[in-house]
Amino acid sequence: MRILFFSCLFVLLYNTTFSQGTDASSKENQFISDLISKMTIEEKVGQMTQYTGFFDITGPAPISGDNRRKYDDIKNGRVGSMLNVKGADQVRAMQKLAVENSRLGIPMIFGYDVIHGYKTISPIPLAEAASWDLQAIQRSARVAATEATAAGLNWTFAPMVDISRDARWGRVMEGAGEDPYLGSRIAAARVQGFQGDDLSANYTLAACTKHFAAYGFVESGKDYNTADIGTSTLYNVVLPPFKATVDAGVMTFMNSFNELNGIPATADKFLQRNVLKGDWGFDGFVVSDWGSIDELVIHGYAQDEEHAAQYAANAGSDMDMESHAYKEYLVSLIEKGRVDISVVDEAASRILRVKYRLGLFDDPYRYCDETREREITMSKENKDAALDMARKSIVLLKNDKSFLPISKSGKKIAIIGHLADSESSPLGNWILAADDNSAVSLLEGISKYDGNEYSYTQGVRLYEGREKFIYELKINTEDRSGIEQAVKLAKESDIVIMNLGEHGFMSGEARSRATLSLPGLQQELLEAVYEANPNVVLVLQTGRPLTITWADDHVPAIINAWQLGTESGHAIAQVLFGDYNPSGKLPMTFPSSIGQVPIYYNHKNTGRPYNADLVFWSHYIDQTNAPLYPFGFGLSYTSFKYENLIVSSSQNTVEVSITVTNTGNYDGEEVVQIYIRDHHSSVVRPIKELKGFEKLAIKKGESKTVKFQLSEKELGFFNNQGKYIFEPGKFSIMVGPNSTDLMEQVIEL
Ligand code: BGC
Repeated sequence: MRILFFSCLFVLLYNTTFSQGTDASSKENQFISDLISKMTIEEKVGQMTQYTGFFDITGPAPISGDNRRKYDDIKNGRVGSMLNVKGADQVRAMQKLAVENSRLGIPMIFGYDVIHGYKTISPIPLAEAASWDLQAIQRSARVAATEATAAGLNWTFAPMVDISRDARWGRVMEGAGEDPYLGSRIAAARVQGFQGDDLSANYTLAACTKHFAAYGFVESGKDYNTADIGTSTLYNVVLPPFKATVDAGVMTFMNSFNELNGIPATADKFLQRNVLKGDWGFDGFVVSDWGSIDELVIHGYAQDEEHAAQYAANAGSDMDMESHAYKEYLVSLIEKGRVDISVVDEAASRILRVKYRLGLFDDPYRYCDETREREITMSKENKDAALDMARKSIVLLKNDKSFLPISKSGKKIAIIGHLADSESSPLGNWILAADDNSAVSLLEGISKYDGNEYSYTQGVRLYEGREKFIYELKINTEDRSGIEQAVKLAKESDIVIMNLGEHGFMSGEARSRATLSLPGLQQELLEAVYEANPNVVLVLQTGRPLTITWADDHVPAIINAWQLGTESGHAIAQVLFGDYNPSGKLPMTFPSSIGQVPIYYNHKNTGRPYNADLVFWSHYIDQTNAPLYPFGFGLSYTSFKYENLIVSSSQNTVEVSITVTNTGNYDGEEVVQIYIRDHHSSVVRPIKELKGFEKLAIKKGESKTVKFQLSEKELGFFNNQGKYIFEPGKFSIMVGPNSTDLMEQVIEL
């Protein structure tokens, strides 16, 4: 009786809330409420349940055990979604089980971690962020969507939009770095790339913004750890990229493993109900992270799995990824009155809405197209897009006396480093669907430039054993036997290209590090080779900022080539030999030493900033405060001159213009960045905040003038009640090529 009452109440509320839209949306609402009214509680809870793939569906059905249970659940309408099933034939067969056997034939939604590409792998997201090229980033997401959708998928668990200031945290490779403004722009671009303008098209899929929230602030950079942050950081730094994706129309959210200020995010009503679904009006659904409902017990929050299901559902986690807690307990929790039926009705409706918009009710097999899958997977067009993205992601960190580019002919060049012949490491971390060893290695990329004489030696092995997503990589810290050979080769060569850094499986989930130096014996190798021949270019490959201070002090040229995906070797070679002029800028500060972490450009002034005379200021006695490379930093083969900064204001709107001239010998691209400082405010603001940027192509000798306009939207901030406010007063307006080298004007608003 009680259940019936709440059910009717929900349908009433639901219809009133959502019925004012257009014809299309009222049709959608009608469809969903009709369907909900036909569903049993078990079927609604089924929609809220997600299983991971468990067998080769095109083979024989499982006979017994867990797999059999999952199989039967799908057939009985007790599963709303699967993850980790891929391939048009597999998805089709799995979908058929649900559609053709369950009472209402509701199709499942198929999710997968398409984080930086499906089979054609693009640079890791942190690398893509270094391009500051929103169009390219959007295109990269679209390529991933095109490949994934042809393989049956209609939901990706991306973009990850966690802001992080701590390079020890391995998952920085998945995000867009440390800045909320850049992070928000990129987050929106990724959603647009995945979802396009028409979600029901068979080449777009639902995006999933994750991990809600504050996962990037885990203590000590240790994955899955606790986050404890204040309201100012939450509202001004952590939440903006999440909000940007809601504004861009993202269809789903994933919550996070961490607890935030004592409440595990999966059970956080404030985040999921008040902020996301309330203040922001998000009308899609929230999926838990893997097993994170069960983990409510382990955190010490819920007493048992039943409580965990109760807390998570009431807090607004709509779908249970692999905890099996909703499936086990939700029906009885409703009967006991501990979860209201309206909670389940709402969650199931949200999930059905996403399926409706994907067009799954029109055609549950819409995304399964074997022919398209064969034709477009790793097509030339997709690889070209990956190459373009890879080149744009490279950051030139040092280039003394124009050491780079390297001449295309007549040189004896040594290539040293274990990573140089790897066809797997450049793919990065989230490469679940990629073919093994499908990256172009650096050696292969360089070999195309056949006018020089090349010799390769590994130097020291970086790793040994299994290179797998689920295993920890074993780093070589003992075997130095290759150093001698490397030194000999360096002595016989004109130039040495050293390819050092991290393997792709050294960053990502559960890959936190306590040091940020070159791992293993690579630093020793670098120093030995440099002593033999100082004409070294360091090609750094990494999933996070590293403290390569020694290299910066010694070697003449350094390029940061992250993990660049399928086309890695081609992209790096084009930069090394000057066929592509690098233009990437760091989306995350490179520290000078591990002790500086967390380090970020948009810090506060403190009451004790720099003091040249006395010791009593906020600093270290054994280390500078300055980063090795600041946020926004990156060089070019050409040079740019900034002049004529003009700042004017009227009615709280600031107009800014600056002229940038290419004064070097190459055509190039430059990312012009604008920062502000609000000098005095009711909640203390950072000494610099990025508020705009423009990427310009400028031919040699040419000048371009860029204009920016800043309004209260950029000049304000969130107060500690979460309200966005603008306070007039003194502001600095700063423009330049990175967050340190800035021209500044102070104005009064
Ligand atoms: C990760 C998520 C991912 C999920 C599904 C979790 O371990 O935290 O980012 O989407 O697994 O694979």
